[in-house]
Amino acid sequence: MSHASYGENGTLGIEAVSLEAIAQRYGTPCWVYSRAAIEAAYRAFEQACAGRETLICYAVKANSNLAILNLFARLGSGFDIVSGGELARVLAAGGAAQKTVFSGVGKTEEEMRAALAAGILCFNVESEPELERLSRVARQDGLSAPMSLRVNPDVDASTHPYIATGLAENKFGIGYVEALALYRRAKQLPGVCVVGIDVHIGSQITEIGPFVAALEKVLEFADTLEAEGIHLEHLDLGGGLGIRYRDEEPPGFAEYLARLSSVLGERRIRLLFEPGRSLVGNAGLLLTRVEYLKRGPLKNFAVVDAAMNDLLRPALYQAWHDIVPVRPRAAEPLDWDVVGPVCESADFLGLERSLALEPGDLLALLSAGAYGMSMSSNYNSRPRPAEVVVDGPALHLVRPRESIGSLFASERLLP
Ligand code: LLP
Repeated sequence: MSHASYGENGTLGIEAVSLEAIAQRYGTPCWVYSRAAIEAAYRAFEQACAGRETLICYAVKANSNLAILNLFARLGSGFDIVSGGELARVLAAGGAAQKTVFSGVGKTEEEMRAALAAGILCFNVESEPELERLSRVARQDGLSAPMSLRVNPDVDASTHPYIATGLAENKFGIGYVEALALYRRAKQLPGVCVVGIDVHIGSQITEIGPFVAALEKVLEFADTLEAEGIHLEHLDLGGGLGIRYRDEEPPGFAEYLARLSSVLGERRIRLLFEPGRSLVGNAGLLLTRVEYLKRGPLKNFAVVDAAMNDLLRPALYQAWHDIVPVRPRAAEPLDWDVVGPVCESADFLGLERSLALEPGDLLALLSAGAYGMSMSSNYNSRPRPAEVVVDGPALHLVRPRESIGSLFASERLLP
């Protein structure tokens, strides 16, 4: 499901703007996002939360363009960050530090300092040495760090192994036995102040069961903490809700919240969420042009101008993105492997796609708003594409295409 649709002239557009016009103006490849789709997703999440005290902390890593972050800030969203770079982006985009949580297993002292100075809402601490470091850094700076521990509930999220994070074998979070000891330690430690508990079990989760199981375990643990006099002001339930790329049927926000609510019952604790993909995934696409058609004895390849360095998900997770023609042809379709120019056999965007193609045709890779541009690289010295936001009839360039010169402008020759 995506916000793109075919208009009266038979070509694909996003909101009121045709993708042909975008390609003509900004070239290809090009990332195209719909403002309306992002706002609709945020509002739907917010609506689903009605009646409970909640804070949505958009997971910046999904799509960190300043214009997108600024849209979320204007909607009142908070943010989930995982680096000093993401913190700087949030602040530059007008996001509120007091609505920002800091996740991740490897926070450096410098990153902690920056987040403390900014006055963030909560550090989601993932290990004992991190707790000790946070306490030390905060004390040195004469501050107190609000914190949660990220617990690992050992729940199977039934998702791709690279994006499952809630199993005991994953590097994320802390098991309950250790977490209890660490909460006790945190209570004694100067420089830190326990404010909550955090859990995030993985990404692209399309069933409700794992979320429910994780919440049940976290609530049980929270009761243990309360009994010890460790009071929690909030429960951070992370992100992870999946989207439809192909034929998945993930729960909607309303169902997700309703099921969590039924587990929470009468508890009135403030809830934090860290959704990324579910807010931006289906709001974006990658527009690309067919450079060559290469027919072979075993396979047919459509070589396009986007590649794995732009959209890594197919190569890394064997992820599916629908690939659709901007101007469909009436001709008989053939099966094509849609591949990029990068020198790796993993450089494919889609395999065995039935399409009627001619060189020069424009194609759209749908549902690419999350973990697309944010995971891209300059591999093969390829400049990154432009990013544009469609807003009704208006088109805004929010990041110009990189120039080749900029790729090595800061590199130096040896003396
Ligand atoms: N919170 C934490 C602590 C996370 O690690 C993540 C994602 C999120 C929230 C947001 O999760 P979401 O709602 O987007 O599922 N690159 C992969 C996804 C990696 C997700 C990493 N953590 C992909 O392209 O599928």
